[in-house]
Amino acid sequence: MGFSTRQIHAGVTPDPVTGSILTPIYQSTTFAQDSVDEYLSKGFSYSRSGNPTVQALELKLADLEGGEACAAFSTGMAAVHGVMLAMLSAGDHAIISDVAYGGTYRLTTQVLNRFGLEFSFVDTSDASAVAEAVRDNTKMVFTETPANPTMKTSDLAAISEITQARGLVHAVDNTFLTPYYQRPLELGCDISLHSTTKYIDGHNATVGGAVVSKTAELHEKIAFIQNSTGSIMSPQVAWLTLQGCKTLSVRMDQQSANAMAIASFLEAHPKVAQVCYPGLESFAKHELASTQASGYGAMMWFEVKGGLAAGKRLMDNIDVWTLAENLGSVESLITHPVTMTHAAVEPEERARVGILDGLIRLSVGLEDAEDLIGALETALEQV
Ligand SMILES: Cc1ncc(COP(=O)(O)O)c(C=O)c1O
Repeated sequence: MGFSTRQIHAGVTPDPVTGSILTPIYQSTTFAQDSVDEYLSKGFSYSRSGNPTVQALELKLADLEGGEACAAFSTGMAAVHGVMLAMLSAGDHAIISDVAYGGTYRLTTQVLNRFGLEFSFVDTSDASAVAEAVRDNTKMVFTETPANPTMKTSDLAAISEITQARGLVHAVDNTFLTPYYQRPLELGCDISLHSTTKYIDGHNATVGGAVVSKTAELHEKIAFIQNSTGSIMSPQVAWLTLQGCKTLSVRMDQQSANAMAIASFLEAHPKVAQVCYPGLESFAKHELASTQASGYGAMMWFEVKGGLAAGKRLMDNIDVWTLAENLGSVESLITHPVTMTHAAVEPEERARVGILDGLIRLSVGLEDAEDLIGALETALEQV
């Protein structure tokens, strides 16, 4: 069945008791057992270990990513953390995209490094750099593509060839494109994870995360860590996220079409210094972005002439767009990564990986493209 059919129906069946077409919010800590000998007879024991509403979302996301199983987490960062804890032990080394989300950078450089784990931040847009960075104790390659906020794009199939040849796990943060546009497991990767806070929910209503594993064995490791650390998604968040999933393909297509129109407008504007959007032919990895994924998504960045001061004037004076963190929602958001999402990354490291001081990130939403472009045009006049 097609993606749009599965995003609505996968994992969900009408409630057997009432016929409710939506999976109910099973707000219950514990589940009655038939007898000591028939423990887990209905599949659930205690909501930290499993909950029917959360399970409906997990089944849906596993189906959409083409994986064996999914574990839904309390946040995207809990999902990243869960993968790291499940795949690495003290003394192990992991290779991470040098421009991963700022929270992933903070988690590895300020938390997990205290527990004997080693990380190398590598330009994974160059697969040969990944091969060169592998050490005897390397256990995992963790890529994020397109990366937040630089849009750096890594070749998932080429990196998977390297990880498969060396017996390493390849985990991918697939938050920016979602399984609608990019399915890492079909490209040889082992784990595809999300901040469901973004496009999967899509309505700025929740924070959540998800980890989809290619094999039951990998999923067991993730689920064990999740149950042990207790970083689970709540039934209410799962329910809201289930509703978001139903329109994922429609939202992605319209938001991406809006993004293409905006990127073309910005590229032609005399006050804009540069625009970075995978759908533009000027994008460094345009060909890879066109073949690896079936759409370009709705994230981009640009820089205005006059650098940071001019960029701040634009961000402080724009209508329609909301100055805020987060991305992937129906509301269009404008963000300054250096002071907001990537403030945890040291200035030298930001400069090294291309997070420019004047970089303005756009998460294009579902408003009319003419209104979004009109607001940018007016704000650019004031720069
Ligand atoms: C690519 C990416 N991964 C992970 C996260 C973390 O997700 P959360 O904010 O849900 O913890 C974010 C958050 O912005 C992100 O952009």
